[in-house]
Amino acid sequence: MTNKIEKIAIAPNNTYPIYMAVANQFEELIKNNEYIYNERLPALRLLAEHLGVALDTVKKAYSELESRQLVYSRVGSGTYVKWRQAGNADATLSETFIPPNSSTIDLSLNEQLLLNERGTELGNAMARLAQQSARLNLMTSYQAPEHIIQPQLDIIARFMNDAGIPATTGEMLLTSGAQQGLHLVLQYLLNQNDVIVTGKLAYPGIKQAASMLGRTLTTVAQDAEGLDISDLETLLSKQTVNAVYITPEYDNPTTAVMSLTRRERLAKLAREHNFLIIEDGALHMPPNGLPSLYSMVPEQCIYLFSFSKILAGGLRLGTLLASGRNYRRMAVAQQSQYWMVSPFLTSLASDMILNGAAKRLLDKQTDELQTRLQISKDILQGYSISGSAPGYHLWLELPQHISTDSFISTLKSHSVEVAPAKAFCMDNSPAPQAVRISLAGSVSTENFIRGLEIIKECLEDSEQDGDWSII
Ligand SMILES: Cc1ncc(COP(=O)(O)O)c(C=O)c1O
Repeated sequence: MTNKIEKIAIAPNNTYPIYMAVANQFEELIKNNEYIYNERLPALRLLAEHLGVALDTVKKAYSELESRQLVYSRVGSGTYVKWRQAGNADATLSETFIPPNSSTIDLSLNEQLLLNERGTELGNAMARLAQQSARLNLMTSYQAPEHIIQPQLDIIARFMNDAGIPATTGEMLLTSGAQQGLHLVLQYLLNQNDVIVTGKLAYPGIKQAASMLGRTLTTVAQDAEGLDISDLETLLSKQTVNAVYITPEYDNPTTAVMSLTRRERLAKLAREHNFLIIEDGALHMPPNGLPSLYSMVPEQCIYLFSFSKILAGGLRLGTLLASGRNYRRMAVAQQSQYWMVSPFLTSLASDMILNGAAKRLLDKQTDELQTRLQISKDILQGYSISGSAPGYHLWLELPQHISTDSFISTLKSHSVEVAPAKAFCMDNSPAPQAVRISLAGSVSTENFIRGLEIIKECLEDSEQDGDWSII
């Protein structure tokens, strides 16, 4: 019997880069079931020796296979086949969950902290729901009755009020997360040629939704206090503005918290110029003493809230606050698009709120975010970082001689990921040399610290090497 590794060879007439040729051959073997689901691929060193190529080349081939979603890697263990033939359903559900690539310290995404605590609280909540078999039918019925839905809305609204958001059930709709709320607003409250203003850097989801819906974005400057209102005034003196999108709390990605003065000026401008404020509260944390724009100009504001960062992003649960005519329009839009959010899901969230689990998770998360911010400030002392507790990320402005692209690729070669400024650019102006570092990635505190130390080492090295792109 031939050793499987013998099947990998570089053809003399190969025209692909070597790593690509190797990846292509593995793809063929995997798809022909010669390497089957969960089978380990040859060890890197062995394969490099067999092919007579550099270790980096086979590493690159395996990353290529990972990006094709064919394999996954386990730290210290190797690379395994993830792909399986469609329709091959002989595995149990738990086998179908592929662990994320834990060899990478991923600080590029805002995900969930406290995975263990969260898992336990979610499990307990599901066990409590499972005890209520009579109500389970109601929770999952196609037309869930009012006496199930209304109390849940009350519970969620109370939770939001405790967090400093003025929610009332008569002005609240449930969504599949803030992103869906954003999409609904752009689709049903705004039109094709409307002028929608954002900061030059903003949450990428608005750009994606705007582009899908054929809405164009116009940008204004921003600084540590949020949107530059004078720049907005200049724009308003020249043209009509239909909507302004803001993330007033812990702005994504700049981390700015909008000051009270700016909130007041923005609310005043909205009244005078009759534009809509889209207030994205997906990253809101409990009371910071600053009023929401929604509480200042409810008739001209839509507030988007989310449980993604509090309970779990994969639950896909958020709310949209709208008043008067906007509420009525959004309610019709909701019905036409998805009838309702699953009452099963809202039952789970409501249970976690009533039981105190949501508050426990939020409190622990707040502590952990504060701790991580402090750790970051200590480790990256002397570099230009901004972040406010308990926000979800840091903004690191790179020293002038470092280009973001080369910084990101150096970090990648050390298995650390952060998000480049260009991912947040809303227009075509050049991206600042900066990166966003997530404080809330699903990495352990130990790995978080390790990731920051690697970031610091790379920054320090850049001061010594001439090996960086000069910009
Ligand atoms: C500013 C902002 N808005 C909206 C979202 C999307 O939230 P959701 O998961 O509720 O759709 C995110 C996600 O991180 C975000 O950062």
